[in-house]
Amino acid sequence: MIIPIKPWLDLATESGGSFERPTSSRSGLVLASNWESWEWNLGVRDARPGLYENVAAHRMDFYHEPILAEEILEAMRPLEGKQIFDGTLGGGGHSELFLRHGAHVIGCDQDDEALAHATERLGGFGDAFLPVRGNFRDIDALLANLGIGQIDGILLDLGVSSRQLDNAARGFSFREDGPLDMRMDRSAPFSARDLVNGWDEAELARIFREYGEERHAARVARTIAKAREAESIETTSALADLVAGVVPKTSGRHPATRVFQAIRIAVNGELEALETALEKSVDLLVPGGVLAILSFHSLEDRIVKRFMHRRSNPFVDRPEWTEPRPNPDFAFYLPSRRAIAPGPDECDRNPRSRSAKLRIAKRA
Ligand SMILES: C[S@@+](CC[C@H](N)C(=O)[O-])C[C@H]1O[C@@H](n2cnc3c(N)ncnc32)[C@H](O)[C@@H]1O
Repeated sequence: MIIPIKPWLDLATESGGSFERPTSSRSGLVLASNWESWEWNLGVRDARPGLYENVAAHRMDFYHEPILAEEILEAMRPLEGKQIFDGTLGGGGHSELFLRHGAHVIGCDQDDEALAHATERLGGFGDAFLPVRGNFRDIDALLANLGIGQIDGILLDLGVSSRQLDNAARGFSFREDGPLDMRMDRSAPFSARDLVNGWDEAELARIFREYGEERHAARVARTIAKAREAESIETTSALADLVAGVVPKTSGRHPATRVFQAIRIAVNGELEALETALEKSVDLLVPGGVLAILSFHSLEDRIVKRFMHRRSNPFVDRPEWTEPRPNPDFAFYLPSRRAIAPGPDECDRNPRSRSAKLRIAKRA
């Protein structure tokens, strides 16, 4: 296997040139911009089996299995003439499905290894696929750099890929021994090792509580602060053992699950990136354009839910007002106020999908 040497655009160092917006739509199927048509679109699934025929065949990519693929295709309608920003390219699973249905895809990831893999996997799609290295929080600059003003869809499939999680050398997993790293962007200057050995006890307790929702946050922070006085904590198993010494084991979960999640979120600035990208999506989607966010824990889902609900209420009301007033933040229609979760078949086939929640919003 030949990994191409940086065949993607790098926001930090390069100017993007131009990526022509596809103009033709041979299929003639476009997302209608009103609510009734949206519901109708969701209902046509059985009548158009061709749209889904490739999903099963491409599920088993070894890198990362795309989650809720059918539901995402249903919502995004990645037909010819559409231009989609996949902000979390990963193994390229979702992007490949979009490309197979005729859309153009700008595939963004901050992990150079993921980009190399997806660039090779999707090379056969030629100009329809454009890989870009960067953080999706910079989506406006990434697109502007490519000469793109607005797009038809944005997908964010949050968190880490199976590949990142399973590779001990990346330091994400408490099950494998590896260096305490956890950076998705390996050029970033700040790793889990810096956080665990450098942040004071109160800050550690705060992130374990806020980002990990860990009930024993203070005890874990105290244990880490004490242990590192003797020697610095360098490996995932050293940290996992320390945590397992103070957090009681609950059914089915490794005691270090929440602490590792908290550190990963802090190291990669995950929640800030999500909040920033959501706000920027408002100006970047064409009317009728679709925002699809796959989240994997309650902190992420809460941010997405609050954003979508705040931005989809046409009116706001306050006790001191005599009547509701138009919502200046109104920007989206929601096909449903509830999140979509994988069914039992998908959960059985791909246990990592179990905690997934998909929320969809359509630009007004
Ligand atoms: C769950 S995987 C995506 C899998 C992909 N949808 C697929 O089907 O193969 C998440 C990917 O997004 C990347 N990522 C996470 N947060 C990011 C961010 N803020 N900016 C750019 N890439 C990000 C990670 O490096 C990882 O490769």
